[in-house]
Amino acid sequence: MQTVMKYNVPDTDMIQELRSICGNEYVHTSDELLERYGQDETEDLVYRPAVVVVPADSIQVSKVVKLCSENSVALTPRGAGTGLSGGALPVHGGVVLSMERFNRIIEIDERNLQATVEPGVINEEFQNAVKEKGLFYPPDPASKGSCFLGGNIAHSSGGPKAVKYGTTRDYVLNLEVVLPTGEIVWTGANVLKYSTGYNLTHLMIGSEGTLGIVTKIVFRLIPYPQHNLVMLVPFDSAEKACEAVSAVFRAGITPSGMEFMERDAIDWVRAYNSDITVDVPETVQAHLLIEVDGNDMDVLYKDAERVAEVVAQYESGEVLFADTAAQKEMLWKMRRKVAEAVKSNSVYKEEDTVVPRAELPQLLKGVKEIGRKYGFKSVCYGHAGDGNLHVNIIKGDLSDEVWNNELPKGITEIFELCVKLGGTISGEHGIGLVQQPYIGIAIDNTRLELMRAIKKTFDPKMILNPGKIFMHKI
Ligand code: LAC
Ligand code: ZN
Repeated sequence: MQTVMKYNVPDTDMIQELRSICGNEYVHTSDELLERYGQDETEDLVYRPAVVVVPADSIQVSKVVKLCSENSVALTPRGAGTGLSGGALPVHGGVVLSMERFNRIIEIDERNLQATVEPGVINEEFQNAVKEKGLFYPPDPASKGSCFLGGNIAHSSGGPKAVKYGTTRDYVLNLEVVLPTGEIVWTGANVLKYSTGYNLTHLMIGSEGTLGIVTKIVFRLIPYPQHNLVMLVPFDSAEKACEAVSAVFRAGITPSGMEFMERDAIDWVRAYNSDITVDVPETVQAHLLIEVDGNDMDVLYKDAERVAEVVAQYESGEVLFADTAAQKEMLWKMRRKVAEAVKSNSVYKEEDTVVPRAELPQLLKGVKEIGRKYGFKSVCYGHAGDGNLHVNIIKGDLSDEVWNNELPKGITEIFELCVKLGGTISGEHGIGLVQQPYIGIAIDNTRLELMRAIKKTFDPKMILNPGKIFMHKI
């Protein structure tokens, strides 16, 4: 039997108690703030909490957690609210706990190539701080200028660099976590190898704030690569562009970026950002944006030449080599702004499909066929080198009836196709709220029961970020 959990609404005594824990000015109940903290970047969804708290340290977080547990009040942790799967939406009302005051870079340990930071540090600020010391923190989601590192941990966020350097998961060594019981633990050790029992650090990463609230992070860092080359490759066929992707890797090159954008993605982003000035001939249907990086320019030129030879076998057009830092930045901006450009155009749903790299052409073809069957248009782009295709399904002038009743059938077919091709339903955005109805397509009951049992062990009262990833059975 599956039952929706029931939670209490915080009463005045509890809100008073929250004020004494966090300080009056860090507990919000105004309409304006409840509205603001009731949304993230997911579609146009809004779920207002009863109260927002903004604690300063892990002790305060622990006290808030204990209070919510005692009062059976739902508690939704929140980073910067840039998520696309509804992970930060307080669907059961209750308390939103914002991590925005956890914004300190505590230490950059140059001896060990490690850093200890709080989870409310903005990704790009952290990248810049370590870069000043010649170090590199590669995970770079499109929202890097505003997203928090804590949110990146919640979904093991990726971004373009993941194709060579891995996702957030690959850089986390150790986490300080407030458990749903209020206990504060470190999950591992600040070491590069860890073979000491179950790996609780990795269990916490990607758990979308359902198992604990991260209050400190120890990252590993790597030396900053000195040089890069960026090229934009046009194709008259989107499927050919996708076929070229795996061929580049098979030719022995691992690019530090291998992004796909179909024609509409580029057209929409150029219309949205007037400072993006790229000429796209009429016949072009898709682009690959490819970057190689390293410390030796001669090697990079050879790699770029090899890439150009390989893509030519897939009928690429004339390759644009970005030769200034400004031009490189413009090309990357063009790629990063696609999601915003789509959002500004229409109501849409973003699916985060992922398949083994060489199956990408079949995924793209299937998505378009399913779109024709159900009558929806999609704009596809994403991290082609990872087989990770963001499928933006556009509402345009579809009726609410089709959008609400027919579209889920189309999404189901897209996800079934991903699984058939050996992939899964989210590569980096997480399940959160909006992918939850589909999780059974990718995860069978045996594994879902294991996940539910883990959730129950960590959070017996089911107070932490309820309603996310999967339905709870009670
Ligand atoms: C991107 C985000 C949406 O790749 O993941 O642009
Ligand atoms: Zn992405």
